Amino acid sequence: MTRLSPNDIALHKGPQIEPLVCLTAYTYPMAQILDAHCDVLLVGDSLGMVLYGMRTTLGVDMDMMIRHGRAVTEASENACVVIDMPYGTYEKNFAAAYANICRMLAMTGAGAVKLEGGEDMAPLIEHLTMRGIDVMAHIGLQPQSVEKDGGYKIKGKTQEQEEQLMRDAMAVQEAGAFSVVIEGTIEPVARKISAALKIPTIGIGASAACDGQILVTEDMLGLMPGVPTFVKQYEDMRGRIETAVETYKHEVKTRAFPDAQSVYTAPNAKPETPYAVKRKAS
Ligand code: KIV
Repeated sequence: MTRLSPNDIALHKGPQIEPLVCLTAYTYPMAQILDAHCDVLLVGDSLGMVLYGMRTTLGVDMDMMIRHGRAVTEASENACVVIDMPYGTYEKNFAAAYANICRMLAMTGAGAVKLEGGEDMAPLIEHLTMRGIDVMAHIGLQPQSVEKDGGYKIKGKTQEQEEQLMRDAMAVQEAGAFSVVIEGTIEPVARKISAALKIPTIGIGASAACDGQILVTEDMLGLMPGVPTFVKQYEDMRGRIETAVETYKHEVKTRAFPDAQSVYTAPNAKPETPYAVKRKAS
């Protein structure tokens, strides 16, 4: 199987083309499950909040992203893996950004990086794309700016914001981004931006008119205790896990587990296949 490239993703443009299916992935088992169903797996810096219980994404660092990015590329073979550059690793100057991004791509094997920012980041995006780095841009609500913005504010509500968003979208496209995430932006504005751009737009809390959709996997599976209102929960995984754990608890307490299948009965029992080999073989 050949993995989708940023160029393949860039072709998914327009209302006639099937929208891109994108989800976040941070771990080996989740990436393995999602891979066959998704065009893009985003190793988002939302992992700081989802996996590490941080209040914002600002505390996420390069080492965390590299560890999780590596796990996701190892587990997948179909989806284009895009990795977020964490806060503070790309904003200061081009040389530091380029060095950090090259390290991130080399250490993880991801196909592209995602950077938050519009017009302000366009010169950096151009610097990177001129050097062969594939960049997914991220405009609208930018989680790395929530403290500066005074909270998670929906964008595009005023004429001024709408015009700025359109300038942001045009600027990142001109700079060579192969696609752009539009987050937390009112529907008519996200729709207009999508129609105006030649590169695919990937919506989150944006519009069905975007060329693709992305959600945080743990949000849509019902694993997180609270989710933003735009999230549709397709499962109640918290509930299902609780039920399974309750059953396990009951069986342990009543000595129903381990049963005969879950113990080694013969003294010459053969060694088990290690997890990693089992995974690759299946
Ligand atoms: O970090 C992340 O998961 C993201 C998506 C929600 C777009 O940026």
